[in-house]
Amino acid sequence: MVHRRAKQIYLAGFMGSGKTSVGEALAREVEWRFIDLDQVIESGQGVTIRDIFESSGEPFFREIERAALAEISKIHPAVIALGGGTFVQPDNLRLIRESGGTTLWLDCPAEELLERCARVEGRPLFRDEASFYRLLEQRLPFYRLADHRIATGGQQPQDVVQKILRLDIW
Ligand code: S3P
Repeated sequence: MVHRRAKQIYLAGFMGSGKTSVGEALAREVEWRFIDLDQVIESGQGVTIRDIFESSGEPFFREIERAALAEISKIHPAVIALGGGTFVQPDNLRLIRESGGTTLWLDCPAEELLERCARVEGRPLFRDEASFYRLLEQRLPFYRLADHRIATGGQQPQDVVQKILRLDIW
């Protein structure tokens, strides 16, 4: 399904796929508001995502993630960076579709994702290489449900933004 005249762009993709950096640059370019779902959760709870996972576990995190998404989905126009697991929850996908959002999958090669995930702290679901590949494999079928796939391998956020601007969704 391809939407035109998008009012909301949702960026989906695995941890380290550049959702936040691309989202910020895209929002600047189109002069829309930028919203990072993880940041909304952290400021709403007053703790880091890592702390939420550690103290209350993933099911609780998914509950507050869904509640935060429901609030965000009312805001437009906006560029919204999802968390790596947001798109994998069927309720979330439904909510995004119902709100009329256009979804873009930032598809980044596994080696690049791994390199970035290993470098940056604060990702509770990143443990080791084997579990990284397992989780990625589980999630790929869900990311493929996005309206558009943007191949981002070896590209800077600005290059990815230019690709997005060339899509027939504006
Ligand atoms: C998660 C990815 C994280 C964050 C949380 C769970 C996931 O977001 O939402 O740690 O399930 O992949 P990023 O993709 O921005 O790292």
